[in-house]
Amino acid sequence: MSKTQDMKQEFKPSPETLSRVDKLVEAYPTRASALMPSIWAITDEMGYVPDTGVDFLVEKLGVTKARVYEVLSFYTMYRTEPQAEHVLQVCHNISCHIMGARNVIAQLEKKLGVRLGEATPDGKFAIEGAECLGACGHGPCLQLGKHLYEYLTPEKAEDLLDNLRKGVVPRADTDRELED
Ligand code: FES
Repeated sequence: MSKTQDMKQEFKPSPETLSRVDKLVEAYPTRASALMPSIWAITDEMGYVPDTGVDFLVEKLGVTKARVYEVLSFYTMYRTEPQAEHVLQVCHNISCHIMGARNVIAQLEKKLGVRLGEATPDGKFAIEGAECLGACGHGPCLQLGKHLYEYLTPEKAEDLLDNLRKGVVPRADTDRELED
């Protein structure tokens, strides 16, 4: 059994998660349509979706296990294994690459002492490469959970790390759009 499998926990939905999923089921035309936001509900509680979370979705939404794993494995923002507390997904596709993504990645690697694709030993940070994040004109971009940071520079990436170390998730460019 791998180390990450050892760390896997059983999913027992909190009352908040249970009520969130119940509301989603009511809001969508079919139970199965609530799959993606229900995956987020589990992810927000656990940080990933363990096998027991899949079983919960199968029962709640009347979908097959294969359907849940199909969706979980298609989208890179969903996880089936425990992950670092902060997963920094830097877009390294062509537009962001041209705009300096490599320098941003290099700065993160230097400051965290790990390489792209690795996590820090304390489990606090991981750096991942991401394919296009859909903000090509605003690159280089970095996704942190539901937040998208745009026009990054090595200095801004370092600032982001400093804030996260202090427990602050700085307001991202996409948060601004949601608030406006
Ligand atoms: S290439 Fe980076 S967001 Fe599209």
